Amino acid sequence: MEQYAIWGVNPLVSEVEIGGAKNAALPILAAAIMTDETVIIDNLPDIKDINVLLTAMQNIGVFIERIDRHKVKINASRIHTTVVEGENIRKMRASYYFVGALLGKYKAADVALPGGCAIGNRAIDQHEKGFKALGAKIRYEHGSIIAEAIDLTSANIFMDVVSVGATINIMMAAVLAEGQTVIENAAKEPHVVDLANFLNSMGANIKGAGTDIIRVKGVTSLHGTEYTVIPDQIEAGTFMMAAAITKGDVTVKNVIPKHLECISAKLEEIGCEVMESDDAIRVVASKRLSGTQVKTMPYPGYPTDMQPQIAVTLGLSMGYTSIIKESIFENRFKYLDELRKMGGVVTVEGNIAIIEGVQEYQGASVTAPDLRAGAALVIAALAADGFSTVDQIQYIERGYEDFPEKLASLGGRIRKVTNPEELKKARLRAV
Ligand code: UD1
Repeated sequence: MEQYAIWGVNPLVSEVEIGGAKNAALPILAAAIMTDETVIIDNLPDIKDINVLLTAMQNIGVFIERIDRHKVKINASRIHTTVVEGENIRKMRASYYFVGALLGKYKAADVALPGGCAIGNRAIDQHEKGFKALGAKIRYEHGSIIAEAIDLTSANIFMDVVSVGATINIMMAAVLAEGQTVIENAAKEPHVVDLANFLNSMGANIKGAGTDIIRVKGVTSLHGTEYTVIPDQIEAGTFMMAAAITKGDVTVKNVIPKHLECISAKLEEIGCEVMESDDAIRVVASKRLSGTQVKTMPYPGYPTDMQPQIAVTLGLSMGYTSIIKESIFENRFKYLDELRKMGGVVTVEGNIAIIEGVQEYQGASVTAPDLRAGAALVIAALAADGFSTVDQIQYIERGYEDFPEKLASLGGRIRKVTNPEELKKARLRAV
C-alpha cells in the first residue's frame, strides 16, 4: 500500500536540482547497444523505467556497470539474442526502442509490445511504416513485434502524424542502413535532438534533428562514446507548476531554459513571474492566478506531458474559466475525476476540459491514473487545505526521481508511507 501522505498548504520555496530527461535517456540506452565498443552515459535519472530498461539489456547479454547512481558503463559486444521480453518490459512504452536499435544493428528484432501509460490508443503504425520503408518485414506474434531484414536500405519517409517514438525508432534503424534516409514531418522534441547528438557522437551522420526534416546518412559501424543526457523538461516543468499552484518561489536548476519556453510563457500569462538565467529558471507566484487557454502540441508547442499539471493549477484561478484542449492523446483527462474529489470544478467534453477556478482545494484520498497525472495530483494535494493521500504511486516513480524528497526539500509536507501505521502517524503529525 505505498502512498504519498500530503498535508497542504505550504508555499514551496528554494531551489531544486533537475535530473536527466527520462524520454531522452530511454532511447539513448537502447541505442548504446548499437556498437560493440564501450559506451558511458551520465546524468541518467534513477527511476523505474530506466532500471527496467537496463535489466532488459542485461537479459539479452549486455554488460552494464553502474559507475554511480546516475552513470553507467555499457558494453553490448556479447548480445546473445534479439528477443526482448518480460513482464516489466511489456509495461513500458519505450521497450519499442529495442526494435529500431536491434533491427539497425542485427537486422532482426523480436520485442514484447509496448504498454506505458493508459492515456490513449498509442498506435505504432508509423514505426512500422518506417521500418518497412527501410526494407524490413514486420509481423506480430505472441504479443511481440518481429522485425527482420536481409539488408536495410535508405528511404524517403513522410510521417503521417508527428510522432516522437516513430521518429526516434526510424533514426536508429537508419543509421547503419545503406544510403541517405530522409524523415519528413519528424518530431522536433529536445529528446529527439539528444538522441541524434548521441548517435553522432558514436560516429553516425544525422543532420536536421530539431527541424521537421531529418537526414540520416548510413555509416558502416558505430563506435564507443561518453555522453551526458539533457535535463528533464517535464520534471522541471512540474516543479515550476508546483511553485505556481502553492504560491511559492522555486528555482529549478540544471535546466535548459529554451526547452521550457512554452511552459514559462503560460506561467507568465497566468500571473507568475518567471526569471531565466543560463541554466536555471525561477518562478515566483505572488499574485492571484488568472485563467488561460491551453492546447497541447508537438514541440515547440505546449507539451501533453505538462497538461495535467497546468490543469490542476488553473483549477485554483478563482473567478476564471480556463479551457484545455488535448490534441495528442485522446484519453488524458481521467485524473480530473480525482481532482473533483478535492473540490475541482471541471467538465470534460471529448478532448476539451473546461475548468472553473475555485478558491481552494480540500484534502482527499486520490489515485494516480498515470505518471504525469499522478504528479499533478501530488502538487494539487500540496495546494489543498488539509490531508491527502495519493496512491498507485508506482506510476509516479516510473518518471520522477526522489519526488517526495525533492518536494519536501522545498518545504512541501509530503512523505511516502508503506503501511497503515505510517499512514496514521503521517496523518497525526501533519507529515
Ligand atoms: C512520447 C513520450 C510521451 C509523450 C509523447 C508526446 C516517451 C517514452 N514517451 O510518447 O511521454 O507524451 O511522446 O510528446 O518518450 N501515433 C500514431 N502512430 C504511431 C505513433 C504515434 O498514430 O505510430 C500517435 C499517437 O497515438 C499520439 C501521437 O501520435 O496521438 C503522438 O505520439 P508519439 O509522439 O509517438 O508519443 P510516444 O512516442 O508514444
